[in-house]
Amino acid sequence: MANLPPYLFAEIDRKKAIKVAEGVDVISLGIGDPDMPTPQRIVDAMAQAITVPRNHQYPAYAGSKPYRAACAEWMKRRFAVELDPDTEVLALIGSKEGIAHLFPAFINVGDYTLVPGVGYPVYTTGGVLIGGETHYMHMGDDNDWLADFESTPSDVLAKARMMFISYPNNPSAVSAPVEYFDRAIAFAKEHDLLLVHDNAYSEIGFDGYRPPSILERPGARDIAIELFSCSKAYNMTGWRVAFACGNAEAIKTLGTVKSNIDSGIFTAVQDAAIEAMLGPQDDVFQMCEVYQRRRDVVMKALDSIGLTARPSAGTIYVWARIPDGYTSAEYATLVLDKAGVIVPPGSAYGPDGEGYIRISLATPDDRLAEALERMATSL
Ligand SMILES: Cc1ncc(COP(=O)(O)O)c(C=O)c1O
Repeated sequence: MANLPPYLFAEIDRKKAIKVAEGVDVISLGIGDPDMPTPQRIVDAMAQAITVPRNHQYPAYAGSKPYRAACAEWMKRRFAVELDPDTEVLALIGSKEGIAHLFPAFINVGDYTLVPGVGYPVYTTGGVLIGGETHYMHMGDDNDWLADFESTPSDVLAKARMMFISYPNNPSAVSAPVEYFDRAIAFAKEHDLLLVHDNAYSEIGFDGYRPPSILERPGARDIAIELFSCSKAYNMTGWRVAFACGNAEAIKTLGTVKSNIDSGIFTAVQDAAIEAMLGPQDDVFQMCEVYQRRRDVVMKALDSIGLTARPSAGTIYVWARIPDGYTSAEYATLVLDKAGVIVPPGSAYGPDGEGYIRISLATPDDRLAEALERMATSL
């Protein structure tokens, strides 16, 4: 436990509480939690599902049959990927839960996980919790933020069991060309790694871009699983519903770990998620339009603040390079002190995040505009 850093967002909440107690009107551009509500069609499905007595009992461990069938159907409609709902799909209580349980499923003490140089913090802390080792794959402007697995040292590779990648990427907001997926698949095969593609932002693409599934690529299913989540796709972060799919053996192993730890997702929530995935998807496109508009507002304001960024291809973030002379933690503290705005320091996402901050677009328009204005005038 001593090796575990405080969970990033718990730390941000703590700093925010101190400022609020001082009377500051703090605006958080911190956590990636959609500000828009869950679409009404999904809320209505839940209202119906909650009246069904069968749903009040223990859920099925792997997810209800209709839920798993809906996940498979969604993968088919969205990516033309055909999956067996009985063996290649597993319900998750949010993808965070799935990521954390991959470690007890696949990592022994001393085994390595290859982790992106910036990424979702649980890729690292999941390993710390069970005595696993982390090797960070370099990401930066020099390689378009595509995690460099190819330069992993051979002694690390000898003890590596699992590799995470995630595009569209949190926090760098870049997408990966499918050829990168092909290289990752070949590399994972060569070195006998479980390849995990975290596709948490699969539905959030800009300027007409629709992010792909790694399972579209040849051979992926031999060594890869992919994680999808209703959290960002359907503004359902509070509902805790996601799924893993792909390689049947890996799905089975992860399911075995989970059945010894949790007892599944409230079945009514699964029913609502079926509506989310298989109902009309117009709300998804409307949501992307809102984030894209906010991205453009942020991009326009960056210069006046002294920041630079590549335009995001997707996700709900802008990954901004800070001025020279500060660490990203120093700069984030300055932004909070001078502007009353919370921005997570890039270093919190991994070693390659130094020199950056992450700006969340999941902020109501007026608050986002005010935050940018405050940053421009006070920094
Ligand atoms: C890259 C990535 N993966 C996974 C998650 C976890 O999402 P959830 O557990 O809500 O599905 C997040 C949440 O922000 C994320 O950014």
